[in-house]
Formats: sequence, C-alpha cells, structure tokens
Amino acid sequence: MSIVEIFFSPSGTTQKVADQIASNFSQEKEICNLLIFKSAKELASDDVAVVVMPVFAGRIPKAARERLSKIKGNNTPAIAVVNYGNAHVTDSLLELVDLLRENSFNVVAAASTVSHHSIFDGVAVGRPDQSDLEKIDEFSQKCIEKIETNESLKSEVPGNRPYTDYKQLPFEISCDDSLCAFCYDCVSVCPEKAIPEDDPIETDLSICSRCTACISICPEDARRFSGDAFEAKKPAFEEANSERKEPEFYL
Ligand SMILES: Cc1cc2nc3c(=O)[nH]c(=O)nc-3n(C[C@H](O)[C@H](O)[C@H](O)COP(=O)(O)O)c2cc1C
Ligand code: SF4
Ligand code: SF4
Repeated sequence: MSIVEIFFSPSGTTQKVADQIASNFSQEKEICNLLIFKSAKELASDDVAVVVMPVFAGRIPKAARERLSKIKGNNTPAIAVVNYGNAHVTDSLLELVDLLRENSFNVVAAASTVSHHSIFDGVAVGRPDQSDLEKIDEFSQKCIEKIETNESLKSEVPGNRPYTDYKQLPFEISCDDSLCAFCYDCVSVCPEKAIPEDDPIETDLSICSRCTACISICPEDARRFSGDAFEAKKPAFEEANSERKEPEFYL
C-alpha cells in the first residue's frame, strides 16, 4: 500500500500542495510527476492517490490531462485537488473529479488551493503560506478518516459541463541569448516539445501552452514572459485579483 502523489507542477507550487497532503499519511510515498512521467500505470485498491493539478484558463492543463488519463485505479481512494492563482477555478475541479471517476478511482474528497500565480507574479505572492498549509493539514486528516471508513465524496464541486474550451494565452515567451548557458534543461522539461532541440533560444509559440516549466527550470533566469499583450494585461490582472481568496474543501 502506497500514497501515490500525482501532480503536474511547472512552477513547483502544485507539488508543494501535493507534498503537504501526502506528509499527513504515514505510509510509504511514491511520486508520479506528470511533467516527466508519461507511461501507463495502474494503482491497487489499497493505494491512495493524491492528485493535484494546476488550473490553466479554467481547465486542468491539456498535457496533464492526457498523461493522467493513462493512470487507472481499482476503486482506489483519490483526493482530487486543483491549485490556482487566486483568480478562478472555473471547471477545473469538476473536470478532475470526472476524470478520476472515469478512470476507476473512488474520489473521497476534493479541494481548490491557492498559490502564487505563475504568470502574473504580483498575485498571491508567498502562497501557499502557513495559514494555507494548516488548512491543508486539517483537510488531509479528514481525508484519512474518510478513507478508513471507506466513504466517498458527497459534496458537489464547482464547475459546469461541457467544460469551458481550452484557451491558448497570447503572451510571448522570450529567451535572452546573452544569459543562456545552453544547458538544454528547458528543452528536456517542455511538455509540448516547443523548444527546438538544437536551439533553446527559440520557442514555437503555436504549440507552447505557456505552462512556465522552462522559465522555472532555467538556471540562468534567461526565459520570461514578454511582449505588448503581456505588459498590457499585467497591471489590470494583478489589480483585479489582488483580494485574497481562501482554499475550499469538499468532503
Ligand atoms: C497557462 C496558465 C493559465 C493559468 N490560468 C489560471 C486560471 O484560469 N485561474 C487561476 O486562478 N490561475 C491560473 N493560472 C495560475 C496557476 O494556476 C497557478 O499559479 C498555479 O499555482 C501554478 O502551479 P505550478 O506552480 O505548480 O506551476 C494559470 C497559469 C498558467 C501558466
Ligand atoms: S516552451 Fe511553453 S510549453 Fe514548453 S516549457 Fe516553456 S512555457 Fe511550457
Ligand atoms: S534552461 Fe536556460 S540556460 Fe538552459 S538552455 Fe534553456 S534557456 Fe538556456
């Protein structure tokens, strides 16, 4: 029996939430990082899945969905969490709960957690913070009780079907060639293969999902969001989403 942490975390906060939930369980941990894990996998009925996904334009990221679709349960208990940047959860949590149920997981509880916005870095700075982590611990303890008594999720989660359409954000990602050390870490991590293997300065914006993994992994801080659309949107977005939102839990 293992606690299987399944997450897609380009900038690291989603993994932080998954780690915090898993740390409440005493069993052995197994990590399934969907940025690098692409194979099929089946969990046993006595495993527990802690599944945490970031919110991308109101959905779970397409690449994460495709990879998660290959992971099947056997009536395996699952905790379903979406991690968002203090703006909107939209249909992402419903989508995640639906997908896990389709894949034979028994969803026992669900949550939306708030983390630092990975594009607009003035939003939700420092989150998840101590208060968030304490609430996540309380939720995890309730999940443990529900798993012991073999209960399922009873509450409705927010969201509508059909889910909102996927949106590709219009922002550019640029690379400063004077900073790049040609380590190719960005090429390896990119889930969309949008950075040419022989030229890490370039990004194919027609296939890039703006996931932020390349920006986050770059040891030289060479990659960033840029361009007129991004600069124009940033102040208004940060102002509109400056009020603190709290995590929500569904049992
Ligand atoms: C492409 C993209 C779209 C996003 N869309 C939303 C959104 O619809 N609502 C929101 O609140 N945050 C949104 N965010 C912010 C992320 O959900 C949030 O920062 C999350 O913590 C990122 O997880 P990570 O640190 O594991 O990458 C978006 C981020 C990206 C990169
Ligand atoms: S190039 Fe785009 S899709 Fe690839 S890692 Fe960077 S942001 Fe993500
Ligand atoms: S991760 Fe950064 S330093 Fe390494 S190749 Fe990519 S842009 Fe250059």
